[in-house]
Amino acid sequence: MTTNSLVDQAITILRGNDTGVFTKPGPHQYPHQWNWDSALIALGLSNFDLPRAQQEIRSLLNGQWQDGMLPHVVYHGVRSDYFPYAGFWQIESYPQAADVQTSGITQPPLLATVVRQMDARHSMQDFVREVFPAMLRWHRWLHTDRDADDSGLACILHPWESGTDDSPRWLKVMAAIQPESLPEFQRGDTRYVPAIERPHREDYERFIYLIDVFRRLRYAPGELLAHSPFLVQDILFNSILFRADEDLRAMAVDLGQPTDEIDSWINRMQQNFNPRFWEESTGLYYDYDMKTGQPIRVNTASTFMPLFAGLPSIEQAEKLVNDHLLNKEEYAPNGDMNHWVTTTARSEPNWEPRRYWRGPVWIIMNWFLIEGLRRYGYDDLARNIQDDTLGLIEEGGFREYYDVRDGSGCGSTDFSWSAALAIEMSTNT
Ligand code: DGY
Repeated sequence: MTTNSLVDQAITILRGNDTGVFTKPGPHQYPHQWNWDSALIALGLSNFDLPRAQQEIRSLLNGQWQDGMLPHVVYHGVRSDYFPYAGFWQIESYPQAADVQTSGITQPPLLATVVRQMDARHSMQDFVREVFPAMLRWHRWLHTDRDADDSGLACILHPWESGTDDSPRWLKVMAAIQPESLPEFQRGDTRYVPAIERPHREDYERFIYLIDVFRRLRYAPGELLAHSPFLVQDILFNSILFRADEDLRAMAVDLGQPTDEIDSWINRMQQNFNPRFWEESTGLYYDYDMKTGQPIRVNTASTFMPLFAGLPSIEQAEKLVNDHLLNKEEYAPNGDMNHWVTTTARSEPNWEPRRYWRGPVWIIMNWFLIEGLRRYGYDDLARNIQDDTLGLIEEGGFREYYDVRDGSGCGSTDFSWSAALAIEMSTNT
């Protein structure tokens, strides 16, 4: 297949998932608007339809809460069989919520990085001027209402906020949560995707239990930080936030806006990121459990995400790449895994080749990794991973994730960000 026909097919997927207002991440499995999906979809769209890409971002920002939070799902009144359905979140009992239906949690803040990238390619100062204040309010919310220890690092309160929903890095934290009772619900996520590729029942029940806790706490930020049973500083989320802060700052400069506030976020993160997350003895970054005050010692591909943000030193980057990424017991293709890159190190006991975030290849993670490797001069390795990634999509179609052993597709079909990133990787390298 030629690159052109792959790009043509990707455009067809994005057009097919377009509701006119927003783009569904997947036609059946994800029928509403998801936050970080939408950012990547806008990036993909911007390569062939800039006005539509801008519309995608406006639609997402429509769901912003009064207090600045940008929710992980905006429902847009679309009727669907998706669970949790809009009313399940009960956000109307919280005066700071949006006046449209949304979820009550957030997702990794990729948007400012995407908007800056689009601006660099298309010079769209009017649009940047229009959306900058909303992005600034979201970042301010993350650096205040989600900063539990005045470190500049943001906390997440739910595995869905990490974007890597059932990553084994959350298992120990989740096991410590014992739901005293569960609201009534029926899972919808195994209707279109086999259960073996979706989260285990005990994890899913805890996902729903946490939403119930947040409803009872009325989504009040102080209450959530004080009482959420799940309170984690996530390396992936904070890497994305750091890079997005820098991108936001660059846009502020272009617009002639003050940068002091953004500078203070950047400085505090820069001071605290490595001391908090880096473990010299293993040469890995680990997430941090604020409840126990302990690092979460699980080796997943999130450990490479600081490369995307330029946070590791040259020596740290060498350790990450030489000791881990190229290690066949962990990430590098070997007889067992034939593709870049498993989302969980092969050596982890909870590795599973087809289950959601337990091991499959995700195009988004490969894209972060490729960008990060380029930043540190590992161009050949980045090229290898990119070729393998595009090959996976050509062979397996635009799937949500891929079995790392043989590249077969898993999860949703016609997945929008796999299409968006195929366009991005084919067009801009
Ligand atoms: C789901 O429904 O599994 C989503 O990942 C939650 O955001």
